[in-house]
Amino acid sequence: MSDLSVISVLPDEVTVELSGGPARFHAIWLRDNARDDTSRHAGNDQRLFDVTELPSHVVVRAAEVVDGLLRVEFEPDGAISTYDSEWLEAHRYDGPIDSSPPVAVPWSADGFVVHRLRWGDRRDVVARAEANGALMRDGLVVVNGLAAGDDPGVGIRDVAGLWGPIRLTNYGEVFHVRAEADPLNLAFTPRALNVHTDNPYRRPVPGYQLLHCLVASGSGGVTVLVDGFRAAEVLRHEDPEAFAVLASRRVPFRWAGDGFDLRNRSAIVEVDDRGEVRAVRYNNRSAAPFDLPYGEMAEFYAAYRTFARLLHQPELELRFTLIPGECLVFDNERILHGRDGEADPDRYLQGCYLDRDWVHGRVAPLPD
Ligand SMILES: [Fe+2]
Repeated sequence: MSDLSVISVLPDEVTVELSGGPARFHAIWLRDNARDDTSRHAGNDQRLFDVTELPSHVVVRAAEVVDGLLRVEFEPDGAISTYDSEWLEAHRYDGPIDSSPPVAVPWSADGFVVHRLRWGDRRDVVARAEANGALMRDGLVVVNGLAAGDDPGVGIRDVAGLWGPIRLTNYGEVFHVRAEADPLNLAFTPRALNVHTDNPYRRPVPGYQLLHCLVASGSGGVTVLVDGFRAAEVLRHEDPEAFAVLASRRVPFRWAGDGFDLRNRSAIVEVDDRGEVRAVRYNNRSAAPFDLPYGEMAEFYAAYRTFARLLHQPELELRFTLIPGECLVFDNERILHGRDGEADPDRYLQGCYLDRDWVHGRVAPLPD
């Protein structure tokens, strides 16, 4: 049962009653979002015109509810469009924008339990939905029951295939985290690694990372994870000025070698237009010399160091040892990862990236 009714009609706006209360819509907004067949493609629902093709001053000639739909006639082009109440309710912009709570639930180490998903024969849409639930909420999931050591079995490519194709980078599709004689990256040595997000120097930054453990570390090499969203919220609470500095300044990241010179700039803490933390990027190894104006540098460093200290607080650090046959999947713009202590030289992980769209945007079933 529709609650739709027209409250008032002015040349430049229409006010209607919706289930969530009254809502105003501008004439130009309604015309730009006209739903008729000359405005939207019947097959794919894409807009058929550019905003420059609309009359310079769009006005409403009439608006009324007909058969439960809002029917609007426009001048001067005579266009007519109808809108259903659900669509109007979903797209209303007169008032608070979407007050629903964020899906992400930032965590501290204490009491947090990693969601584990056994692979088995579960390469299906149900497994993906379960994994996505944990990824959206916690930013990570562990898939187990995979290949270990030299045994053939389910590998990282199979796990990535739960979502989509692997993101190809200059490290290849699958990179190998183990001690190398001439490493391109400090990750490929046994050294302890400060918590970080990967590859902030790429455009776009890889959205998700997979790390599949084939050979565990005999001693040391403990995986350390920190929820960057939690750390950012703690910073906002404890030092709002430092939070504002990190959220409002973009700094350079760079990695050069092997025929590449990769550069990107981003905020250490990125917030969306509602003020919610949207991404965290932190990597002490690939942060390039900051190039902020002279007058801002000292303040930025103070904020940066405050955040970095937060990232090393034990109460935020989740420590565990990946065992052979386990694959950690995590949001690379939320969850920081590192390793504590010198890893056993035999430790061997395979890693790869997925672009964010394959996880967040994919709704179709998996191909056979
Ligand atoms: Fe890494």
